[in-house]
Amino acid sequence: MTTAVIGTGGVGSVIARHLASGGETLRLSSADSKSARMLAAKIGPTAVAAVDNRDALKGADAVVLALRFGVLKSVIDEIADSLTDRLVVVPSNPVSLDAQGNVVHLPSKGQSSGEVVAGWLSAGARLAMAFGTLSADLFESSSNRSPELAVLFYASDDDRAGEEVEQLIRTAGFEPVKVGGIEQSGRLEVGGDLHDRVVGPAEARSLIGGA
Ligand SMILES: NC(=O)c1ccc[n+]([C@@H]2O[C@H](COP(=O)([O-])OP(=O)(O)OC[C@H]3O[C@@H](n4cnc5c(N)ncnc54)[C@H](OP(=O)(O)O)[C@@H]3O)[C@@H](O)[C@H]2O)c1
Repeated sequence: MTTAVIGTGGVGSVIARHLASGGETLRLSSADSKSARMLAAKIGPTAVAAVDNRDALKGADAVVLALRFGVLKSVIDEIADSLTDRLVVVPSNPVSLDAQGNVVHLPSKGQSSGEVVAGWLSAGARLAMAFGTLSADLFESSSNRSPELAVLFYASDDDRAGEEVEQLIRTAGFEPVKVGGIEQSGRLEVGGDLHDRVVGPAEARSLIGGA
């Protein structure tokens, strides 16, 4: 399978490396393409740096938008026609830092990234909020955990997207557990009760039930 990863910074680079380790073929892109080219070179022949975001989608079964919340909408608009009938995976948290380094919630506290992004996508794109539950260092170190795989939670309203993202999560070396529909995605994001929780499947299921 081939996945496009748009955004190859802190979290996008870990997503790409975990997917590549699991055998996924990758098409990478970033703002100025330098970080995408460097990451592709590090991963090897199963990853290529695309010319631009639209090029990244060519031949890809799915796309991961590993972008800061503030640029997500413009990139979605740029590639909108290529998102129809495709799995769109978004790890973005609805936060930013202000000039003083304080966390600012975007668009407003209480609204999840998933709910906002769902409103930006056209019908036909299959959204799953995933791969943003853990901070990059925890995510990096928890792949292929033994003896029990660590869980990556996801949220989606679409059954087919659920099946597809579960396959990607397994490829990345984690056990997928669905938290619910997109209306539940705030639980995965910064400030949510499931954010930064590295747990096995049994504990994950009890955490979901215990909300
Ligand atoms: N870092 C974490 O620990 C972590 C964990 C979970 C979730 N998240 C979420 O993941 C998202 C990304 O965070 P991050 O830490 O990975 O951010 P980051 O390190 O700043 O990386 C952002 C990436 O987006 C690329 N980019 C910016 N504008 C673009 C455009 N117009 N087209 C294509 N690529 C563009 C940048 O390209 P260049 O490389 O060329 O600058 C960079 O590769 C955020 O929403 C964050 O909340 C982060």
